[in-house]
Amino acid sequence: MKVGILGSGNVAKSLAKGFIAHGHVVMLGTRNPAKLEDWDWDNRKGLVGSFADAATFGELLVLAVKGSAAAEALHAAGITNLAGKVVVDATNPIAETPPENGVLHFFTTLEESLMERLQREFPAARLVKAFNSVGSALMVNPKLQGGKPTMFICGNDEAAKKSVTEILDQFGWETADMGKAEAARAIEPLCILWCIPGFLRQEWTHAFKLMRV
Ligand SMILES: NC(=O)c1ccc[n+]([C@@H]2O[C@H](COP(=O)([O-])OP(=O)(O)OC[C@H]3O[C@@H](n4cnc5c(N)ncnc54)[C@H](OP(=O)(O)O)[C@@H]3O)[C@@H](O)[C@H]2O)c1
Repeated sequence: MKVGILGSGNVAKSLAKGFIAHGHVVMLGTRNPAKLEDWDWDNRKGLVGSFADAATFGELLVLAVKGSAAAEALHAAGITNLAGKVVVDATNPIAETPPENGVLHFFTTLEESLMERLQREFPAARLVKAFNSVGSALMVNPKLQGGKPTMFICGNDEAAKKSVTEILDQFGWETADMGKAEAARAIEPLCILWCIPGFLRQEWTHAFKLMRV
């Protein structure tokens, strides 16, 4: 599959390597392609272009930019280039204010998530929230005590969530589908919880698991 990743940060890079390792072809999109010229793809070369180039290239897209710039990046990608495509939304709406006792601030409320805002602004894109509740170093085939961790996902398009579940299977995750876009109100704040041990104790090597009877 051709995957267009909007972003050039740790999430974009980690997922790019993961997709390539699993046999996909990847283009990273950034405002400044020169900044990825020297990046080490681990000998598996991917492509780099603008946000619009990556959105045009990808049959499936990943949104991996700063939360406050997500709408801007999608506009730069081009509304027509997003139409009908699955967009894996890994963003979190983290505010600029520093964490308080390890607790991040969000610029959204519990009544409206970032993904809902984006889905409303880009109705033709098939957004699926995923990968936002774990650090970038653990996104692809994490090896954790206790077995496979759980990735919580949501989105309005059932077929899009099925595609993302297949990717999560490849990437070594169990998927928990939490329903429609409104569930991002609960999934995005998992980032706050995930980060607390990191900010308080420099512990960044955990992931969530849903346990069942
Ligand atoms: N870091 C993690 O472990 C982690 C884990 C889960 C979820 N997340 C979420 O995933 C997203 C990406 O995180 P990250 O740490 O990889 O990178 P980041 O530092 O949060 O974001 C970097 C990306 O944001 C883009 N960006 C910044 N300002 C922009 C603007 N005004 N217009 C367009 N694009 C802009 C940059 O574009 P250029 O390439 O053009 O500079 C770059 O690609 C964030 O929403 C974050 O909350 C992060």
